[in-house]
Amino acid sequence: MQNVHHLTPEARRAFSALLPLLSRELKGLSRRDQQLFLLRLERYFQDLFDGVQPIYGRREEFGEFMERLACLMAQHYRARPEELKILDVERDLTPDWFQRETMLGYVFYVERFAGTLQGIEQHLPYLQELGATYLHLMSCLRPREGENDGGFAIADYRNVEAKLGSIDDLENLCRTLRKRGISVCIDLVLNHCAKEHEWAVRARQGEARYQDYFYMFPDRTLPDEYEKSLPEIFPDFAPGNFSYYPEIDKWVWTTFNEYQWDLNWTNPEVFLEIADIMFYLANRGVEVFRLDAVAFMWKRLGTNCQNQPEVYDLLQALRSCAKIATPAVVHKAEAIVSPDDLIKYFGVGKRFGKVSQIAYHNSLMVQYWSSLASRDTRLMTHVLSEFPHTPPNIAWGTYLRCHDDIGWAVTDDDAGAVKLSGLAHRSFLSNFYAGQFPESFARGEVFQHNPQTGDRRISGTLASLAGLEQALADRDERQLALAIERTLLGYALICGFGGLPLLYMGDEIGLLNDYSYRKNPDLAGDNRWLHRPFMDWDKAALRQAPNTVEQRLYQGVIKIIRARQRTPHLNSTYEATIVEAGNPALFAYVRHHPLGSLVGVYNFSERFQQISATLLSRQRIKQPYDQLEQRFVEVGDTLTLAPYQRLWLI
Ligand code: GLC
Repeated sequence: MQNVHHLTPEARRAFSALLPLLSRELKGLSRRDQQLFLLRLERYFQDLFDGVQPIYGRREEFGEFMERLACLMAQHYRARPEELKILDVERDLTPDWFQRETMLGYVFYVERFAGTLQGIEQHLPYLQELGATYLHLMSCLRPREGENDGGFAIADYRNVEAKLGSIDDLENLCRTLRKRGISVCIDLVLNHCAKEHEWAVRARQGEARYQDYFYMFPDRTLPDEYEKSLPEIFPDFAPGNFSYYPEIDKWVWTTFNEYQWDLNWTNPEVFLEIADIMFYLANRGVEVFRLDAVAFMWKRLGTNCQNQPEVYDLLQALRSCAKIATPAVVHKAEAIVSPDDLIKYFGVGKRFGKVSQIAYHNSLMVQYWSSLASRDTRLMTHVLSEFPHTPPNIAWGTYLRCHDDIGWAVTDDDAGAVKLSGLAHRSFLSNFYAGQFPESFARGEVFQHNPQTGDRRISGTLASLAGLEQALADRDERQLALAIERTLLGYALICGFGGLPLLYMGDEIGLLNDYSYRKNPDLAGDNRWLHRPFMDWDKAALRQAPNTVEQRLYQGVIKIIRARQRTPHLNSTYEATIVEAGNPALFAYVRHHPLGSLVGVYNFSERFQQISATLLSRQRIKQPYDQLEQRFVEVGDTLTLAPYQRLWLI
């Protein structure tokens, strides 16, 4: 007997229609496995239905679509290895596993970290020393040859980049890591595939079925209409959003590079293909999918074709599918968009908490860099305190750097609220981080200057942007110490804000900009390679050598990570509430937790600063204990913070 009272009549009908077919598909599985599948189907069916119905529901073949989707789920569930089914139950029992204070992400290009997938095992001791419980393996699935946007132009979703190994290597690695409590995350590019992918090749050969997988236009009429409101993502090296192919005499939608063809999600076949791929990879042991460039998945004339409501429906549907067939899996949305749009990737209103479990906190990252440059946190405090509330079942991915550039996502309204000009502040940040501002400590480079909007995004490693490269070149010990403290301030922020901290490979030992990409013709045009260096294992070895830069930095990072692990207040279930620090150089928040409040305070300047003790007394913290330094802190009427000091007070 099914418990379907929570389903709407429409969903209930759709659910019942699938049961005979499912009982065939599940036959042969143990009774308990069958029951578990059906229980999860009941639990998530409404979410799935609410996701797909608005998109495909009006099509004649909707019933058939649901049947095919149900079959896919049942077939992959049936094929799911026993050890992963156990993990599924574990995750059903511990749905907050990715929200815990003990979670720590580490992100790297496989090739640049370890050469191959097999090579990663050799570096397990390093990863375990750090405390990593989540590895984002970048550029893992097989991309097109030659230029491939850093691995984001996928030619084959079911295979691994040949240089790195095989799909079996990936499966073995996932198993090895899982046994050590480490989850594997890989990129699943949802918005586009390479023009060398079989779907695109067959489309170019004229197969109508596959042409429907993409957006194709016979002439410029519609593309010109769309272009009126479309931004350009890579104005420098890939201007425009459409590319012409004479062999089919058609214009194809290519938001990013010419060789990345946007997938047409209005076509239910695309949904089924991607769901199939997702289950396939999940059954190999992948636990987290970083859903790449999701904001762009739905197009609507007259808009910027980002963050359309259909995107949230599609993501809700994909998540529900995963919850049913491969429940150990979680989704991380990569949407580098404004706060009001961003929050919808967790789900608001009827989709509350149903869209994706993790999303990048782009604003926190941008505001860290903004406050560092200006030594003024007012914009940061304003932007982050205006942030919409998050559902309790999610985690921010908190980060300082990643493989991408930094775009100055500061709106004119937000800047205006703290009496800044948006244009001037964004321009200041670009100048500052490109090292073009007289007092700048940073060595970055401008990425994708857009003369129309004035936007200049920034490339560079954490260390080079935070001042280490310049301090080393100048042999300036004071600047060196400050650069290290700035970096640690950032680490304390992403580890102490609440969320899943995502450490970008090499930042923990201060890897500087890598200028060698300029000599490689496949990379030279894209200066994001500046901050995608190869891991320097000789430098990593210096983390144990007293008084080296590497040791000072790395041991500082480790201290923060250890402090995080023993601070339950940092579990992502509870969100941070930003508070006015009453001093424009300081940023502060409170995390309310059943164990009591935690107050985080961060000094964004190279001067001593004071904060009123009422900030603590208001939270009933009488004898503040700093979780970072593991000691009680002296307070009178005020509390004093050293340059770039950070406190996690309980
Ligand atoms: C994501 C990736 C970025 C890539 C883009 C297009 O934003 O992070 O590196 O260029 O998607 O695939």
